[in-house]
Amino acid sequence: MIEILDITKQFGQKTVLHSLSARFGPGEVSMIIGSSGSGKSVLMKILVGLFAPDVGKVCYGTSDFFSLDIGGKTEIRKQIGMLFQNSALFDSLNVEQNVLFPLQMFGKQSVRQQLERVNHCLERVGLSGTNAMHTSQLSGGMRKRVGIARAIALEPRYLFCDEPNSGLDPLTSIKIDELIREITLESGITTIVNSHDMNSVMEIGNHICFLFRGKILWTGSKSNIMKTDCRELNDFVFATAFLKQLRTLNTD
Ligand SMILES: Nc1ncnc2c1ncn2[C@@H]1O[C@H](COP(=O)(O)OP(=O)(O)O)[C@@H](O)[C@H]1O
Ligand SMILES: [Mg+2]
Repeated sequence: MIEILDITKQFGQKTVLHSLSARFGPGEVSMIIGSSGSGKSVLMKILVGLFAPDVGKVCYGTSDFFSLDIGGKTEIRKQIGMLFQNSALFDSLNVEQNVLFPLQMFGKQSVRQQLERVNHCLERVGLSGTNAMHTSQLSGGMRKRVGIARAIALEPRYLFCDEPNSGLDPLTSIKIDELIREITLESGITTIVNSHDMNSVMEIGNHICFLFRGKILWTGSKSNIMKTDCRELNDFVFATAFLKQLRTLNTD
């Protein structure tokens, strides 16, 4: 369980997150949705400890992250897997070395065990046998899969995915969403996914927080999102569906 309490973040004079509170439970994918600039990435960076909030708490279980000492923070960080927006693979390393990286950084296993774990993770994301491939040889979907394999290498309790579908075609997006959901369910991970993709919302959005200009205006699930009377959320749902339609028409 992750709980945020009253999170506020300013950059200079600009407040980008206003007093956010929410809970994210284990074994489910929680989604933070909202249009570009609404504050999703800043919130995720606060969740993983890359930015400190000006006000508020981030609690991992009963631990208040920002009040922990360095050792306590490191213990939590070891339990966090992160899939960055652009996959953020190390382009000078091959697939195996990318997935190996967190194991070498934090793991305590022998080299043989680390390689076994790498192969297990690659198999889990459908990329068995790609160990020696260079990142430049990978498609966008494969890069995301390698990013996921790296994110789960240390068997995280918490998984964060910032726009996992950015730059992917709709079919590949669905496969990545399914993979994130399956991994979350099978390992009881607390997963948080940032997205502005309505397909993903309707696919995996059982617990959704809608962020609008740095405020959580609505929380709910995919089953009640269409019935919402939150005007800003309606506009978001309609605009994204409409834009998708337009793009499809333009590429036909
Ligand atoms: N490091 C930063 N310094 C100053 N402003 C930032 C920084 N990062 C993000 N912002 C601002 O915070 C707001 C929210 O950004 P972001 O979280 O990236 O939005 P989203 O991920 O929803 O597209 C934007 O107005 C953005 O310009
Ligand atoms: Mg973002």
